[in-house]
Amino acid sequence: MKETVFVKKTKEFSKKLNIDFVKKLLVFDELDSTNSTAKEFARASAEEGTVVIARIQHHGRGRFDRIWQSPEGGVYLSIILRPKKTTEKISLLPFVAVLAVARTIALHGLHPTIKWPNDVQVNGKKIAGILLESEIKGHEVIYVVVGIGINLNIDRKDLSPDIQPRSTSMLHELDSPVDYQEFLRIFFTQFERAYSLFVNHQFERIIDEWKIHTDTLGKTIRVQTSTETLQGIAFDIDPSGFLLLRKENGEIKKILSGDCLYLNELDHT
Ligand code: BTN
Repeated sequence: MKETVFVKKTKEFSKKLNIDFVKKLLVFDELDSTNSTAKEFARASAEEGTVVIARIQHHGRGRFDRIWQSPEGGVYLSIILRPKKTTEKISLLPFVAVLAVARTIALHGLHPTIKWPNDVQVNGKKIAGILLESEIKGHEVIYVVVGIGINLNIDRKDLSPDIQPRSTSMLHELDSPVDYQEFLRIFFTQFERAYSLFVNHQFERIIDEWKIHTDTLGKTIRVQTSTETLQGIAFDIDPSGFLLLRKENGEIKKILSGDCLYLNELDHT
């Protein structure tokens, strides 16, 4: 089958990329989900630093079984990691990924904020999301797939009307398109940097840098976890990446993951 312009250009770009962390860039024009394909490669022993990327996804997946709308112009990629860490510190990987995304967006002149745990927003609207999927046996991490979706050169009209009011894109915020390949190069540089903090046990630094970009801490939030709904003030992140929430009755809750709503957003839902 003839290669599309996207595949040809992205493959050429990957040959010149020269970032140690990126071992292989597997480029596809269309996929159901780069995460699903990356998991297949991971199960078939693909090495750490293998990246799956696609121009569009037909069944892009978000957190909590949501759909990640993936029209042309967005960045859809999944990175295979094989961290040699105990499962305890794996909870910091979402912080690594979101930090790399936020810094990349900031380097393009915008002011991204991280909404706990790993949404990136610009002007209060979602611009990027991250979905981590892993296989763990006992205490051993077999692989982690870090899936990243960024609304890059997307016209908001190409997103469905129900998410348009809560979503934005780089194109919309900058009022001009961003060079896709250059964006990828900056992102991979930022990911390599953030992941090297993790590999070198600089866990506190990851959290400190995450805190620079977040606007969640200090806010009253409502969190839906897999088992309960919690409400209170998000006041800190512990060294393992748990959010510390102070409920109205003073009780402190440690939350690993959940769907977070800022209370002032509730009026709009
Ligand atoms: C979220 O905010 O809900 C997470 C969205 C993650 C979307 C990305 S796009 C690339 C990768 N492949 C998928 O199917 N999902 C992730």
